[in-house]
Amino acid sequence: MSNSKEIFYKNLAQTTPFALGYEISHAEGSTIYTTDGRAILDFISGIGVSSLGHGHPAIKKAVIDQVEKHMHVMVYGEFIQESQSKLGEELSRVLPQEIDSYYFVNSGTEAIEGALKLAKRATGRQQIIAFERAYHGSTHGALSVGGNKAKQTPFLPLLPNIDRIQLNNLSDLEKITTETACVILETIQGDAGVRIPDYHYMQALRKRCSEVGTLLILDEIQSGIGRTGKFLAFEHFDIVPDIITMGKALGGGMPIGCFASRKELMEQLSDHPMLGHITTFGGHPVVCAAAAAGLKVLREENLIAGVQAKADKIASLLVHPCIKEVRYKGLMIAVDLDSEERVQKVVDDCLKNGLLTFWFLSTAYSFRLAPPLNISEEDLEKGCAIILAAIEKTAN
Ligand SMILES: Cc1ncc(COP(=O)(O)O)c(C=O)c1O
Repeated sequence: MSNSKEIFYKNLAQTTPFALGYEISHAEGSTIYTTDGRAILDFISGIGVSSLGHGHPAIKKAVIDQVEKHMHVMVYGEFIQESQSKLGEELSRVLPQEIDSYYFVNSGTEAIEGALKLAKRATGRQQIIAFERAYHGSTHGALSVGGNKAKQTPFLPLLPNIDRIQLNNLSDLEKITTETACVILETIQGDAGVRIPDYHYMQALRKRCSEVGTLLILDEIQSGIGRTGKFLAFEHFDIVPDIITMGKALGGGMPIGCFASRKELMEQLSDHPMLGHITTFGGHPVVCAAAAAGLKVLREENLIAGVQAKADKIASLLVHPCIKEVRYKGLMIAVDLDSEERVQKVVDDCLKNGLLTFWFLSTAYSFRLAPPLNISEEDLEKGCAIILAAIEKTAN
């Protein structure tokens, strides 16, 4: 008999006093199963990770095949490893042509760190412009460009020379000057409650950065890999950034991050100083094999093409007087309710009734949905019915 529950609470570091605390037995497709016999429909995909559902056979096979060949052999960047090259090949099919160099790291946060370092190194400038309400990760650098003061204050001092601007505020763009190394923005702000920039704002942001020689970093860690109905969300705005960060769904369920750019920019990290960013496990062969297999499935099954219809279906089903707005770009969805208290109750009640949704860190009147891109119509309807029943229960 496993005592993993006891060890979880006694020995494993906790991130909150309110962990969900279910013990997982296995997961398959859009469902997570617990050791006490529950089947939980997954409407968040591990927060934007398991876009092909759980246990996709092509990903499992790629992992097993790679484990049979080799696991870690050497720090990133020294040996030629086939699984890294396969992932590179898949990315080169879907990224803009000019973004032709990919640096594989271990997490989204590390991709942010690499991107910020690259921008400073390539421009020789120090100022960074970030956005109010942003979330880019939890290490010192990534936290510094976030916009949640409550999460930052206990860890001061953070990085200096960071200024913040407001999404969709055109006059703020004047703050981007020849002193600015980079502007960093989540293409669709996730933790802020799925905030979608205006088309013209994104065009103006790109133009301003180009005018003053500032590098535009778009964080696609949550919005990327098909989630919004395009491979990367910036495709909705007809712009190309200078540096892209990816993570989450890129790994097909394995831990990965990637920052990508033009080769002549990326080369700056390999010279003066040499080894400008290094990582032992970045580009891990098993992770890259899973990621390459996942991208192949996404491409061959044309899954991105079905995203908008599924998202529209969810929005059409989630209608109730207590729902103030369903804000979404593809299957990156925020549901605003009429009170913070109701959000707490609804998320709890959904879980009790077999549906996993989740809160935002900094948007208390909303909860998030990000189901697998290949979720069935039946599961989609079932999940929405559980949400409506939970709302209805709290409304009485
Ligand atoms: C937009 C965005 N950037 C960066 C990160 C950090 O990624 P990770 O948790 O893989 O380090 C996240 C994670 O939620 C994210 O949503």
